[in-house]
Amino acid sequence: MEGQQLSSGAVVRILYVEDDPANKALVHKLLVNAGYQVLEASDGIEGINMAQAEHPDLILMDMNMPGLDGYEATTRIKAIADLASIPVIAITANAIDGDRERSLVAGCDGYISKPIDVGTFVATVTSYVSGKQEVLEDSAKNGYLKEYNRRLVEKLELKVRELMDMNAQLEKRVEVKIKELESAQDQLLQSEKMASIGQLAAGVAHEINNPVGYINSNIGTLKRYVEDLFRMLSAYEGVEPSLPQQQRDPVVALKKEIDLNFLKEDIAQLVNESIEGVTRVRQIVQDLKDFSHVDEAEWQWANLHRGIDSTLNIVNNELKYKADVVKEYGDLPDVECIASQLNQVFMNMLVNAAHAIESRGTITVRTGKQGDDWVWAKIMDTGNGIPPDKIKRIFEPFFTTKPVGKGTGLGLSLSYSIVQKHHGRIEVESEAGKGTTFTVWLPVTQAEAKAGR
Ligand SMILES: Nc1ncnc2c1ncn2[C@@H]1O[C@H](COP(=O)(O)OP(=O)(O)O)[C@@H](O)[C@H]1O
Ligand SMILES: [Mg+2]
Repeated sequence: MEGQQLSSGAVVRILYVEDDPANKALVHKLLVNAGYQVLEASDGIEGINMAQAEHPDLILMDMNMPGLDGYEATTRIKAIADLASIPVIAITANAIDGDRERSLVAGCDGYISKPIDVGTFVATVTSYVSGKQEVLEDSAKNGYLKEYNRRLVEKLELKVRELMDMNAQLEKRVEVKIKELESAQDQLLQSEKMASIGQLAAGVAHEINNPVGYINSNIGTLKRYVEDLFRMLSAYEGVEPSLPQQQRDPVVALKKEIDLNFLKEDIAQLVNESIEGVTRVRQIVQDLKDFSHVDEAEWQWANLHRGIDSTLNIVNNELKYKADVVKEYGDLPDVECIASQLNQVFMNMLVNAAHAIESRGTITVRTGKQGDDWVWAKIMDTGNGIPPDKIKRIFEPFFTTKPVGKGTGLGLSLSYSIVQKHHGRIEVESEAGKGTTFTVWLPVTQAEAKAGR
């Protein structure tokens, strides 16, 4: 067969880079038969070296080769200045992974599909050699590049969406974690506050307890003495008319001067007020002691209704002018508790309820159980409610909205620590102007709590 020649008359030399011996043999035969001179290399590196040494007129490049593959080899050849103009034709299986687009991106000037079509192969090579294929290739190249880019963009979009989803999930998880941390910190702060206030309270209670004790007993004695003195005075007054004028006049004058009648009345009032005051101080000291659990009482199985009833009796004075008390008791099992302490919880809630009612209202005490393990007691009032900005603070020690003398702000913090000690919890619902409901939840038995904690 006549040799394939360039316009200069030289024989056209084609470098074929291919690792597969069968393909190599086939192509070699086809090209040689068509009159081309064939140079051969078996991998990318050898291909580059051969190209540099031989400056072939055309390179046929298998894309998938072990070691340095056709893509990388093409890119390197195109980067070498005096090789860049040599057309590199990729021999690729387009079906796989967009090989054709990739080869164009790598710098190939055209492609021939694998497996090689024996009928058209030589004609295609010849058209590349004569440059006819080039025009066609440029627009085709654009099309493929576009398609390649489109797929790339699609993949990127997918990845971006995945990343955004992952990011959103992460953000959510971070949010949840932050909330958990915040509430843990709140609890920690709360219990730390309780602990330090508790110590302080125990100290203060201890210090005040003795002096208040003797003031209380002294005032009691003083009251009796004063009453005795008044009785004595009355006896003297009885004999006053029988005194001779001379002795009676200065006595009458003195009585007038010191305003004895007013004095008698006022002394009684002063003593009574002092007793009231001391009683209040003792109550506060008692509250402080209870708050710090100085007087530890015994755990026992007790009936909550009995406790609530006796508490209602004790606070009846405070409640009766303010509210009608409605009892809606459910069927409750006995509860393992420190009854005296629970009574204090109920007492404080009942008194708070009465305080919240301005003229007249209703206090409802409702009880019930949930399953066999939990009981609850609700103290509901129709009072003025707790504003949302205050509700977070009501369990804080010394938080009170009541005037000095009426509230210590210890009731609910004490209740909180008592219920916590029982491994229960307190819930509050309140609506301004409508009323408030406190729910005390208690486990029936402490066994699990003791074992678990
Ligand atoms: N039933 C209630 N209705 C409205 N406010 C309440 C009620 N119970 C408690 N509070 C609010 O919580 C505060 C704290 O209560 P507490 O700890 O018992 O202290 P104190 O009764 O001495 O003020 C009260 O001052 C009051 O503002
Ligand atoms: Mg109170």
